[in-house]
Amino acid sequence: MSLFEDLKSLKAGRADRRITDLFDQDALRADRFMAEADDMRLDYSKTLIDAEVRKALVDLCDTAALADRREDMFAGQRINVTEGRAVLHTALRNLDGGTVRVDGVDVMPGVQETRGRMRGFAQAVRSGQICGAGGSITDVVNIGIGGSDLGPAMTTRALSPYHDGPRCHFVSNVDGAQIADTLRGLNPARTLVIVASKSFTTVETMTNASTARRWMAEGGGDPSGQFAAVSTALDKTIEFGIPEDQVFGFANWVGGRYSVWGPVGLPLMIAIGPQNFDDFLRGGQAMDRHFRTADWTDNLPVMLALVGIWHRQVCGFATRAVLPYEQRLEHLPAYLQQLEMESNGKSVATGGMPLGQPSGPVVWGAPGTNGQHAFYQLLHQGSDVIPCEFMLAAQGHEPELGNHHDLLAANCLAQSEALMRGRTLEESRNQLEDKGIDVAEAARLAPHRVFPGNRPSITLVYPKLSPFVLGQIIALYEHRVFVEGVILGINSFDQWGVELGKELAVALQPAVEGLESARGSRGSTAALLGFLHRHR
Ligand code: F6P
Repeated sequence: MSLFEDLKSLKAGRADRRITDLFDQDALRADRFMAEADDMRLDYSKTLIDAEVRKALVDLCDTAALADRREDMFAGQRINVTEGRAVLHTALRNLDGGTVRVDGVDVMPGVQETRGRMRGFAQAVRSGQICGAGGSITDVVNIGIGGSDLGPAMTTRALSPYHDGPRCHFVSNVDGAQIADTLRGLNPARTLVIVASKSFTTVETMTNASTARRWMAEGGGDPSGQFAAVSTALDKTIEFGIPEDQVFGFANWVGGRYSVWGPVGLPLMIAIGPQNFDDFLRGGQAMDRHFRTADWTDNLPVMLALVGIWHRQVCGFATRAVLPYEQRLEHLPAYLQQLEMESNGKSVATGGMPLGQPSGPVVWGAPGTNGQHAFYQLLHQGSDVIPCEFMLAAQGHEPELGNHHDLLAANCLAQSEALMRGRTLEESRNQLEDKGIDVAEAARLAPHRVFPGNRPSITLVYPKLSPFVLGQIIALYEHRVFVEGVILGINSFDQWGVELGKELAVALQPAVEGLESARGSRGSTAALLGFLHRHR
């Protein structure tokens, strides 16, 4: 029997068990079912995982030779086998570690040199030494999409208490509405545009970059001085007309969705300054060390991954909700959607065979407490079980505002408790009767107030959302994806599933522009094109 079958029979044997029973049976459960790293605590005690299940989950790590695969990654082996690439985003945050080699060549001197140039550039923009045609830079517009947008946009928003540089804006969508709304009100002579694209061919990014260049030239700015680029395709950046000293390169062993630690993080470095950016890298590096050295059961990324596998591949829950009680992490769910779903949303194993297990789950979410007033209804009483991942800081950044943070924390803790405990029919009826509602009316209303409970959640707690902690959180989730990928046999570092739509969009463009008939398009697409043309 495979380990997954063992796990499924463990799950079947626990069909009637409740999480609350596990706490009743073990007064120390909260301390036994958690992992800690550098002041960060991952509590997974509010799940149905017990010691036997955990052991079976941990066995998956050894069966998949996780320790060897992990070292292959850190050692620069070409583990992205479909693209023949190493996977070394960890080298970008290797601030004081040793050499990192790809094909025998140490990549660290190049990484340090680029980081040094980024620092110099960021400082010069922040100090006004690099300025626009109309004076010092007041606004930075990052143009990129996917990994060239989500990471810098999420982290820049997350660390707003540390901003002391120019304002940063992010444009990703080819929908002209976004760039129009972003540029409106900005001074073209005092704006810096960063074009971020690993390939420097992405249609959305190149279209927006050309629009921004026109806007700047027509508005009295200096596109040759006020544009910078971040890319692995240096020839293309130069062809676009960006001066070489404002181009920041990185190697193809950094995947787009893993790229915020290097030049793609330039807007963040400009916003918070190089020192804070180094703290962010240090947080990521601290999580790398923890991931490489902690035993499986003490290892945050490993336990986070194993809890994920238990819920998705063993229990069959199709989605998971990410619920940061941290407004400044409002873009984290979208960031994790790319990180997790582009990495592990695959049905083919590394060797080309069908996966044999469901792929990674749908990841979605929104910050608490906003979500409580929108979709938590379904989390508590809907027919699907959705494992929830709560995040909470011990402290906020605004103690001067009074009890906001205490209310936030109380809500977060209350939600995981409510999901676990639920409320029976009898409890509902009694509660209504205690409020003075007559017996018949209480019996009518009570079923609507039943909560099934026994809904699993994990909670990640940390001292405060500092640059260091944000670095830890991102690296934690990156390694979680890696561990899940290794155990499921997925190559987490390619993304062939995005290609077909791109190819068809290119093929359809002439028909959309009216230059060609919708030849080859099927009934529905041809009919929709017809509608567009009739309404133009
Ligand atoms: O279409 C998917 C994708 O390739 C992502 O993996 C990537 O982050 C994004 O497009 C942007 O690519 P680039 O940085 O090359 O513009």
